[in-house]
Amino acid sequence: MPTQPYRVALNGYGRIGRCVLRAYHERGGDFPFRIVALNDLADMASVEYLTRFDSTHGRFPGEVRVEGDALLLDGERVQVLRERTPEAVDWRSLDIDLVLECSGAYNSRAEGERFIRSGAPRVLFSQPMASEADVDATLVLGVNHGGLTGRERLVSNASCTTNCGVPLLKVLNETVGIEYASITTIHSAMNDQPVIDAYHHDDLRRTRSAFQSVIPVSTGLARGIERLLPELSGRIQAKAVRVPTVNVSCLDITLQTARDTDAQTINRVLREAAEVGPLAGLIAYTELPHASCDFNHDPHSAIVDGSLTRVSGPRLVNLLAWFDNEWGFANRMLEVADLYLGVAHRA
Ligand SMILES: NC(=O)c1ccc[n+]([C@@H]2O[C@H](COP(=O)([O-])OP(=O)(O)OC[C@H]3O[C@@H](n4cnc5c(N)ncnc54)[C@H](OP(=O)(O)O)[C@@H]3O)[C@@H](O)[C@H]2O)c1
Repeated sequence: MPTQPYRVALNGYGRIGRCVLRAYHERGGDFPFRIVALNDLADMASVEYLTRFDSTHGRFPGEVRVEGDALLLDGERVQVLRERTPEAVDWRSLDIDLVLECSGAYNSRAEGERFIRSGAPRVLFSQPMASEADVDATLVLGVNHGGLTGRERLVSNASCTTNCGVPLLKVLNETVGIEYASITTIHSAMNDQPVIDAYHHDDLRRTRSAFQSVIPVSTGLARGIERLLPELSGRIQAKAVRVPTVNVSCLDITLQTARDTDAQTINRVLREAAEVGPLAGLIAYTELPHASCDFNHDPHSAIVDGSLTRVSGPRLVNLLAWFDNEWGFANRMLEVADLYLGVAHRA
């Protein structure tokens, strides 16, 4: 343990950045670090307002005040910066141990190193990077976090969909075996979509109104899974659709298994993984007749809906897992930050 708490900064204070800070407070700040600064392009009045009120997760569960250039959350000071580039922030003077990069604006090693050159010793990205070579490690908690050496400078926390899918595929590959998988992400709308049609993105479908259509979008999920589970390389396909809800998503996973199986076996191995072992607390299991909004503010990476598991013939499996794409992932950011700083301290 450090003699003083580590000092963590958020770069980007949008959906994920705000959820990270809020989850930190909802968990009583029970981490060996303090979140001491945040950087976003927004003005202070908006930063305060959107900290205090959140249409999806409700009011901030504590006192929110502004004092000069700082946000005071239950008296705990978070300096607010408004800089467009990593170079414009003096991370060294702020004595930052780790930047949680939550803007989504930096996704290559060259861009990540801009933070390092500007005095931030480590960066944890809230997205998968363009290629594996762009970071020193891509982590999915419960799956490969044990590989951290502490010497990494740039680490990715993968994506919300990878954090949902990879643990489940790992369990199933180790039990019934996976020959091939085809996955559809059914994802809530995000801020990279317009409310009504607008020029917006190089993915043409993302120019369409988020709340009028089910919108197929590009996804790197198959690549993300293969990065974490190379034993499945070349055997995964994925597609994604955005749906007109504000939060909570699911993965619809179809698998051809290596061994004969049935729905009871699939559900049993996933339920057991949720109860004991490295995935306990990260994945959950239910058979209740849920709808997506039931999982708003749920911290798990994946909630397997056993009532929807189907097996055709002996080897064609279909299952569904829910996840709060904001809150689950934000909680993983905090836990991976905790782990990363601890391992780096011991290295
Ligand atoms: N939302 C999810 O469910 C989810 C889940 C897992 C991972 N992620 C990933 O997390 C990242 C952020 O997603 P999000 O949903 O939180 O997006 P978001 O709501 O748009 O938040 C991004 C924030 O960063 C700000 N920003 C943009 N450029 C910046 C810069 N150069 N420096 C500092 N701040 C900057 C944005 O300001 P402006 O609005 O003014 O541009 C915005 O406030 C993305 O990579 C996304 O893929 C998102």
